[in-house]
Amino acid sequence: MAERKYEQRLNIRTTGLREWRNHPHYNRYEATPYQALEALFSVYRLEKSDEVVDFGCGRGRVSFYIHNRFQVPVTGVEVNDKTLEEALDNKRSYRYIANHIDAPIRFDFALAEQYEVDEMDNIFYFFNPFSVDIFKRVVRNILESVEKEKRSIDLILYYPLGSYKRFMAKKTPFKLLNKVKVPGAQDKLEKFLIYRLG
Ligand SMILES: C[S@@+](CC[C@H](N)C(=O)[O-])C[C@H]1O[C@@H](n2cnc3c(N)ncnc32)[C@H](O)[C@@H]1O
Repeated sequence: MAERKYEQRLNIRTTGLREWRNHPHYNRYEATPYQALEALFSVYRLEKSDEVVDFGCGRGRVSFYIHNRFQVPVTGVEVNDKTLEEALDNKRSYRYIANHIDAPIRFDFALAEQYEVDEMDNIFYFFNPFSVDIFKRVVRNILESVEKEKRSIDLILYYPLGSYKRFMAKKTPFKLLNKVKVPGAQDKLEKFLIYRLG
């Protein structure tokens, strides 16, 4: 299905790019392709008890897609104020067609590295949002949260860079659970890595 059809179905607008002006650590806005999300969630299922955080959620595509498909609580965290405003506009239009879904969908204007991980959060999504230095801080926060409240955690990377992969393999207790390729992708980084802890 074309991107436009998914956007119409969810009643949102998430296409396009937004660049940062010379920010050394924050990456630009660009949404995960719907085709990639379809590939991921054809093999990876969420349970009703799961709670998802999309770090660097942008205009919210992944958050809306997951919320709509699995009806679980989702939190998007975004630091660009214009982009966050667009996510909130999308939430208003999305709720016209998804008012029947009880699970909350929230967007926080926050730095990912300062987000206070909730003890119920257990699935964390990253589409290459920031430098590996920030990624390390976010993962450290997740691990501290697990120390306080033991639970199984999944961490999903889309378009995984070598620096993220090396950090995950060498410096964290996460194990690589699965790799999901996107059918027809030309770029070998267009894939998902799913890591699990516990
Ligand atoms: C590649 S986009 C991914 C968007 C969305 N997750 C998706 O997959 O459709 C990365 C987003 O991360 C945001 N970002 C960058 N650094 C951030 C930070 N430190 N805290 C929160 N968001 C950040 C950017 O503004 C951008 O919107």
